[in-house]
Amino acid sequence: MKKIFLSTRSNKIPIVIGNGIISSKLLSAYIKSKNVVIITNETVGKIYLKKIKSCLKNYNTKTLEIKDGEKYKNLSVFTKIHDYLINNRFDRDLTIIALGGGVIGDLVGFVASTFMRGVKLIHLPTTLLAQVDSSIGGKTAVNHPSGKNLIGTFYQPDTVIIDTKFLLTLPEKEYISGLAEVIKYGLISKPSLLTWMNKNSKKILSKDKDCLSYIVLTSAKEKIRFVSQDERESNVRAFLNYGHTLGHAIEAAMNYRNILHGQAISVGMLFASMLSVEKNMLNINHFNLIEDTLEKLNLPTEIPKGIKTRDIIKHMKFDKKKQDNRNRFVLLNKLGSCVINDKLKDDFLCKMIEHYRS
Ligand code: NAD
Ligand code: GLY
Repeated sequence: MKKIFLSTRSNKIPIVIGNGIISSKLLSAYIKSKNVVIITNETVGKIYLKKIKSCLKNYNTKTLEIKDGEKYKNLSVFTKIHDYLINNRFDRDLTIIALGGGVIGDLVGFVASTFMRGVKLIHLPTTLLAQVDSSIGGKTAVNHPSGKNLIGTFYQPDTVIIDTKFLLTLPEKEYISGLAEVIKYGLISKPSLLTWMNKNSKKILSKDKDCLSYIVLTSAKEKIRFVSQDERESNVRAFLNYGHTLGHAIEAAMNYRNILHGQAISVGMLFASMLSVEKNMLNINHFNLIEDTLEKLNLPTEIPKGIKTRDIIKHMKFDKKKQDNRNRFVLLNKLGSCVINDKLKDDFLCKMIEHYRS
């Protein structure tokens, strides 16, 4: 078991990582209140709730399961959770445990940041995406009919406990989608992770225990590095959006159906890498290594045929990270180093997307 820390201006948050580490002893080392509510969804709850609850016999523990899916990450479910907490007369002496993937983490984090102006929060992330990305860094959110993650807060959890054993029950498609975010760290800051993933793709796909430990720990350290320098995303944290400008536009153009976030990001990352080659910043051999790694890990690299280039451009305009109505692309200066380019015009991007698709 490894313990690393995310240090921000006001917090030092322990992030505990290991395989099969969940126990009464570990949880009670981090829970400082008498009352505990575990919030999860029906899918994860069915597999893990009994076990987690049995580790919390010394606490007044309640559980709440919500429906599974991105469409439940909304203000209505947020309010229902608040109703539950208020009806059960919880006060500020409360620890909320978010047990699940990024949807549960974002929604429950938002609840924890607002109930009684903020109660203790522990993340128990159960998807690869949540373990390597969303549970670390304090972004919370719900969706609005106009767009994803438009309502939320920055609220750091008290602790993040990452048990890679959870990943054994994660559906393969979700696991592979999460690998896109791991590859992302290889591109933007840790090239040795990319070459390692390229060499070990088979073991990674088989969820080899040591591989899981390596990719989760390495990614968590990278995420910590960005967040500790820039908690509110005013500069380097934006590099974590590598591949997301096109990726988000693809997801939106497909109405968030038939494509997982990581799959869309995979396409977006390869496109951003092509732009980086086009701007004479990225070496073509490194572009080939990126493409080969994505393909070896069964991630898509092509823009889905059913969507039109002009729809992609339209959705890029709604990207909430866009400033002054400019496209903000994270590009690679070279492998492992990023730069923001906000000078790419729509007609140039349109041409490049057509070129990428051909
Ligand atoms: P998810 O939470 O929907 O989980 C994916 C699916 O896997 C769900 O059906 C879930 O029930 C199931 N599942 C979860 N853990 C399981 C397990 N161990 N075994 C079996 N099934 C399991 O999806 P996700 O990819 O984890 O998260 C996506 C969300 O994360 C999006 O809403 C996105 O906006 C958000 N996100 C947030 C941040 C952030 O910094 N806060 C970063 C990236 C993404
Ligand atoms: N997933 C991007 C971030 O946490 O900033």
